[in-house]
Amino acid sequence: MAFTLRPVWGEKLVGRENDVVEIVNSITKNKTGVALYGVRRVGKTSLFYEVENRLKKEPHVKVLYLSLWGLLPSTLENFLLELLIKVLSTHLPEVSIKFREIMKLDLPSIKKNFEHVKISETLKDKVVYLLDVWKNKEIDTYKIAQDIFKLPQKLAEENNCVTVILLDEFPTVLKYEGGKSIVEFLRTLNEKQDRVVYSIAGSERSTMEQVALDANSPFYKQFISKEVMPLDKESISKFIKDNLAWLKIKDDAIDVIYRYSSGLPYHINLIGITIENSRFELKEGSVLDGKTVEKFILRFLKREGSLYYTEEFESLGEQEKHILGTMALYGASNPKDMERITHKAASYISAYLYRLKKKKIVMQDLHGAYRIRDPMFEQWLKYELKGLE
Ligand SMILES: Nc1ncnc2c1ncn2[C@@H]1O[C@H](COP(=O)(O)OP(=O)(O)OP(=O)(O)O)[C@@H](O)[C@H]1O
Ligand SMILES: [Mg+2]
Repeated sequence: MAFTLRPVWGEKLVGRENDVVEIVNSITKNKTGVALYGVRRVGKTSLFYEVENRLKKEPHVKVLYLSLWGLLPSTLENFLLELLIKVLSTHLPEVSIKFREIMKLDLPSIKKNFEHVKISETLKDKVVYLLDVWKNKEIDTYKIAQDIFKLPQKLAEENNCVTVILLDEFPTVLKYEGGKSIVEFLRTLNEKQDRVVYSIAGSERSTMEQVALDANSPFYKQFISKEVMPLDKESISKFIKDNLAWLKIKDDAIDVIYRYSSGLPYHINLIGITIENSRFELKEGSVLDGKTVEKFILRFLKREGSLYYTEEFESLGEQEKHILGTMALYGASNPKDMERITHKAASYISAYLYRLKKKKIVMQDLHGAYRIRDPMFEQWLKYELKGLE
């Protein structure tokens, strides 16, 4: 099946050519990385995957991607260790030490891995030390972090290339004990290292502000900040038509997909999967119109919406849930209307709306009216709160 909920790259990535070229050029020509931000599931990781894919083809560039989300447990030590392993495997593919093996390898076995590696003896000693040090009971993590962050530059100097490091979900670093000082250190280092280009990505604007976008943040102006936007209608149309080539897709079907997905590629994939799964109802070559798509979307939300939205909804406070419910069920779009329905003061409601807006769950249009950002979430709320029709 062509639709997927995992990050994509290469031919599967649609509508991002300009972004990819811009980021690759910034990295290779100006040696300036990017700070990518954008709402959940808009396609930040996919964009990084493709940038990695393109940079792998560049001579004199060694690129690595690391997400701070997949680390278990999510600690500074694990992040450093994983970074170390990635840096090594990127520069020295002949060294095959795996992340999970480190603790099991004794010093002679680590050294053995480096016997035929063509780097200077000093660097070799350093690397071996950094791989071995984790077995000590008490380690100075900050000191080790400094050494690890210096490696990409040293390896690039010896290999006559540039190291590009793409760090996904980077603001997670702030949650680590000692994470803040690491970010500070990385910043000063970043200014000095001429052969390393970092790029970072994160979903929450507020935490990205803390590290890169805000004037008081450590990385301010060290990156080009770039918001990843939802896909435009043209890209959606191409995406859908390419993947559902067995159907005749009417324009109003694309309109409905655009409306329900609000351009979020994750949603487009979900809708695509839903249509694929309805294959038994649609014959090869039949026409897919807006009404049919809507029917499939609503059926999907009724059956499986909870799987996707319960967690998001349950993570909210009781008042936030109440306000969202009022918006979904009564179509209320301003604090005054909500006051009439909930009998709570408009100023009180405004404060919660502000919080929901900060969380990117509601948005305000040009006229100041509030609405739930994700139309599929809104529709699911209607079902959840009203009971199935
Ligand atoms: N340009 C694109 N073309 C087609 N599909 C895409 C594109 N970008 C993202 N997708 C799809 O959208 C979904 C989300 O993509 P991705 O994981 O890259 O987003 P994200 O912003 O990193 O999400 P998260 O906030 O969860 O980290 C996946 O199903 C992926 O296949
Ligand atoms: Mg991601």
